Amino acid sequence: MNFHVLTLFPEMIEQGLHTSITGRSLEKGTITLHTVNIRNYTVNKHKKVDDYPYGGGAGMLMQAQPVYDAYRAVVEKISERKGENSKVPRVIYLTPQGRVFNQSMARELAGEEDLIFLCGHYEGIDERVLEEIVTDNISIGDYVLTGGELPALVLMDAISRMVPGVLGNQESGDTESHSNYLLEYPQYSRPEIWHDKKVPEILLSGDHAKVEEWRLERSLEKTQKLRPDLYQKWVSENEEYFIRKKKREERKKRNERKKEKKLAF
Ligand code: ADE
Repeated sequence: MNFHVLTLFPEMIEQGLHTSITGRSLEKGTITLHTVNIRNYTVNKHKKVDDYPYGGGAGMLMQAQPVYDAYRAVVEKISERKGENSKVPRVIYLTPQGRVFNQSMARELAGEEDLIFLCGHYEGIDERVLEEIVTDNISIGDYVLTGGELPALVLMDAISRMVPGVLGNQESGDTESHSNYLLEYPQYSRPEIWHDKKVPEILLSGDHAKVEEWRLERSLEKTQKLRPDLYQKWVSENEEYFIRKKKREERKKRNERKKEKKLAF
């Protein structure tokens, strides 16, 4: 996965991604990062990249020319590596007006070889260049930030986790919260007792099947309580789970009744 970021603040992106798991992946080469300072592409002799919006209004707007030229430089670099006729990479514009980002979008974007992120600042970017280059408008939530750098880092982090080889244990990318609509079950580490609270007995039992069942039950409980919207989605896709559970409970009751009868003799 090769990330390319068009930004006025490359140091923010570099520092953010060169940390922790994504930092390690950059060192290993599982992911790569190429930041491009939009200001380096302005033809304005004072290095200006913004101007007042036509028609008036608050704040300044990023101009089309430096954004477009920075974009063209990235596309040329990619086609030098992949060949002239290679697929034009997707360009993600981070904007509160976009589609709200989620886990399935992260999984889908992780399938791309190159992704270009466009980070806006001030009051936004001239619409004409957005029309020409942007393929995906993505928001990270219904609130307004001062720029697209933090949202770009959020996306790159979530996408990186879905790239094979980024997580040490590949399983963890698919078992955590949101991978299947369910929130993750509670987890415990040493010591066994802390602040008078004991780790649930079943987790010490060594019975793998029982542990898995317990974890699913806790995930379901937690999701129903904290995110009833996600719980409904899971229920509608997993009806057979409840049918099997009901059958198991009925079988258990029948066996208990049989035992009671035997004892009564
Ligand atoms: N730029 C400013 N606010 C944003 C948001 N909520 N999501 C994505 N990009 C943004």
